[in-house]
Amino acid sequence: MIFPTLLLVFLVNVCSRPVEADICESKAKIVCYFASWAIYRDEDGMFDTNNIDPTLCTDIIYSFAGLDINLQIASLDTNADINRGGLSNITALKENNPCVKISLAVGGWGEGSIKYSVMASSQDYRDKFADSVLKFITYYNFDGIDLDWEYPTSRGGIAEDKDNFVVLLKTVKEKISPWGFQLSIAVGAETIYYNIPEIYKYVDYIHIMGYDLIQSTSNVTGLSAPFTPIKASINAWLEGGTPASKLILGVPAYGHCFNLLDASDHEIGSATTTNTCGGAYTDENGFLAYYEILLLLKNGYCDGTEVSDDTVYSWCGDEWLTYDNEETVATKTQYVLDQSLGGVMVWSLDTDDFLGLYGNKHAIVSTIYNTINSDASLFLENYD
Ligand SMILES: *[C@@H]1O[C@H](CO)[C@@H](O)[C@H](O)[C@H]1NC(C)=O
Ligand SMILES: *[C@@H]1O[C@H](CO)[C@@H](O)[C@H](O)[C@H]1NC(C)=O
Repeated sequence: MIFPTLLLVFLVNVCSRPVEADICESKAKIVCYFASWAIYRDEDGMFDTNNIDPTLCTDIIYSFAGLDINLQIASLDTNADINRGGLSNITALKENNPCVKISLAVGGWGEGSIKYSVMASSQDYRDKFADSVLKFITYYNFDGIDLDWEYPTSRGGIAEDKDNFVVLLKTVKEKISPWGFQLSIAVGAETIYYNIPEIYKYVDYIHIMGYDLIQSTSNVTGLSAPFTPIKASINAWLEGGTPASKLILGVPAYGHCFNLLDASDHEIGSATTTNTCGGAYTDENGFLAYYEILLLLKNGYCDGTEVSDDTVYSWCGDEWLTYDNEETVATKTQYVLDQSLGGVMVWSLDTDDFLGLYGNKHAIVSTIYNTINSDASLFLENYD
């Protein structure tokens, strides 16, 4: 009999939810994603929930759950999530910081778009999915769900996804919010996938993925996180009626790399050849954790670095890197404060310099934290 157990866990969870106290208020949110597969990396790359500092983040998001064959939420890796305790560990972090909100992300790039397109297409599927979400997040003591459908209408999706996504969000929101759970979504910087004037009505937060504007397979070099198009994306959400406080700007704690066709031609837009670059720890073609980039820079493998449009590129022999560093992340965080947006999101904790091997521990997240907490207007507000 699973039901009485579930009900009990449910009641305990809902009734023990901490009251929203002033002490938990933050000038801006710091939303930190954790990629659960980081537990499989070797040596200094290994990152598990013990490496998370829950006092640096206002929100932590465990990535990713997916959809099972019935299109209901399910673990994608029962070894990491259950056998090795990922799901119960992550929500236990609330013991170290009662203010932190812990959400579960469902979706992600690897899940593709088609299952989500089918699930969103009928009220029956949407209801069953929302029921399964409520059960799952209650059982594991999460504070909310983060929907990361990449992306409605694309990658095998259909035109109707755009409106079905809105109805899906409404269904999930109405199902979970009476119990105090929050609903956020992660959206691509590309706005064409979204019915912007409707979405904000049914979600608490919108995480704008302000990165991956170039793919590692591109035949020319380009910037992953250039700020001008990302600001244009933010403005599109604002102009569509989204309250600024619901918009969370995503910054990368990682970069993309390319192999140059000609090492002496290392500008933005230079020709690339088949990628062989990547990091020894993350072991993904065309991808480097921030700590892997810092290692290249420290060892003198790089011949030059430039800042362009509030993001960075470096060329290192025949490799070309695009990434954000502490300086560009501070600039972006300051923009969030100046525009009174809801906060900053980072993908991901496990690719930051979380051990402080090359500088500050949790270099990128610490930069966001320090920028927000040293903002002058914060002190003014305290004296009101
Ligand atoms: C959960 O915590 C245990 C005990 O600290 C740790 O050994 C394990 O690696 C953690 N699991 C994950 C997935 O982080
Ligand atoms: C890259 O590919 C595009 C078409 O996808 C083509 O127009 C362009 O010439 C290519 N550039 C180089 C440098 O190969």
